Amino acid sequence: MNTPAEIEHVRLKALNNLWIHNRDWTEMAESGGPHVITSGKGVRVTDSQGNNWIDVNAGYSCVNIGYGRPEIAQAVYEQINKTPFCPIGTTTEIVIKLAEKLAELAPGDLNRVFFSTGGSEANETALKIAKAYHNHRGEPGRYRVISRKGSYHGMTGGVLWTGDGPAVQKADYGPAYPGMLHVPQPNPYRCEFGGKTESECATLCAQAIEDTILFYGPETISAFIGEPIAIPQGAPVPSKEYWPMVREICDRYGVIMIADEVVCGFGRTGKMFAMEHFNVSPDIMTVAKGIISAYLPMAGTIVSDRIADSFSGGDSSLKHVLTNSGHPVSAAAALKNISIIEEENMVDNAKEVGEYFKDQLENMIQDHPFVGDVRGIGLFLAMELVSDRQTKAGFDPDVQIGVRLTEKFKSKGLIFRARENILHFGPPLCITRQEVDEIVHAVDLGLWEFEGESGVGRFA
Ligand SMILES: Cc1ncc(COP(=O)(O)O)c(C=O)c1O
Repeated sequence: MNTPAEIEHVRLKALNNLWIHNRDWTEMAESGGPHVITSGKGVRVTDSQGNNWIDVNAGYSCVNIGYGRPEIAQAVYEQINKTPFCPIGTTTEIVIKLAEKLAELAPGDLNRVFFSTGGSEANETALKIAKAYHNHRGEPGRYRVISRKGSYHGMTGGVLWTGDGPAVQKADYGPAYPGMLHVPQPNPYRCEFGGKTESECATLCAQAIEDTILFYGPETISAFIGEPIAIPQGAPVPSKEYWPMVREICDRYGVIMIADEVVCGFGRTGKMFAMEHFNVSPDIMTVAKGIISAYLPMAGTIVSDRIADSFSGGDSSLKHVLTNSGHPVSAAAALKNISIIEEENMVDNAKEVGEYFKDQLENMIQDHPFVGDVRGIGLFLAMELVSDRQTKAGFDPDVQIGVRLTEKFKSKGLIFRARENILHFGPPLCITRQEVDEIVHAVDLGLWEFEGESGVGRFA
């Protein structure tokens, strides 16, 4: 065990040298951060000061199998000893096995995988494949990409401009990539078209895709990209009409349909892939996070035979190189990770414990006037907080609801980042009902305190 002085020394070094995503070191210093995590097991992590926390978001919705699985370390160790990498233009058996496994798991004729190291890269690759595909077919004018407001597909130069909303931080990076179009999200709690039912909202939002295609001209549209269920909007599950309609519209106008399963994939929603809830097979599916439970970097762009075949023969190969594409060590870890998900029935656990979790969150609606909506599926759940249930108004930025709730949850043993008024629950898929109870209890207390301070609710 390190002494308090040693622990503080490490923290100060972090403040001097480390650049953590979306955070600045002054703010971090003021709040006593960063926490330096030293170990983890299941849904829990321990920091250098010996504090133990439940990680309610499984890292960034990625540690699907939970922390501390030595089997992954063993698989990595064995592969590094065999070969850590391979010469230019070659591959390794372990990478071939992973590609075969993904083709077996993925729906429809999604049979060819281009590997990368993260969700952003996987989506960049998908957009490039879509454009190149049209180009090969003599339609170079198809450069526009339709995505949805309130979606998130990553932070790199191109995909940054897909999606739109608070999670997509574009302000410093203009001008925008040309041809990025945005349509409404099928979020029945806040339907942009005023749809009165889930079904009406879904239909209107799908129709907006067709309208957009026709307005700009199908001959200019390359692809439509969407998460089956979008995380930044707090997991609104589209009504069953939505994805089949989108599939049909894409087919009608020759638009490539890309499903971003970066968060939803590998069991999070109670199916291996979330598109299975809708019985729809996309043309391209991107995966990351849960494919390897973030034990190492790994992602993939899984492409249908129809599209992949257009890159074979003559000079038609995909001109796209990423040094760490198909990394053998990551492949070994990913295969072991997938086998743990399958052998330990984690997809079923996500479904069953997720239903229990959602019930508990819904029960909180009675007690907490600020809870506006509870939504999601499997272990992909969210609670939207509102200052007024009738008007669904959010909170004044001065209230700093996100910062305050995050601190309250921390004081109750949760690492659980409240992103303003949306609480997103995405724990490891190995979570038990007892651990769900712990989370729900802590959230209950945190909300009571916050409501009391705000002059509403029981403690007011
Ligand atoms: C749906 C979705 N797509 C893409 C990404 C980007 O993945 P990465 O951060 O690995 O680049 C994320 C990350 O959170 C995501 O949630």
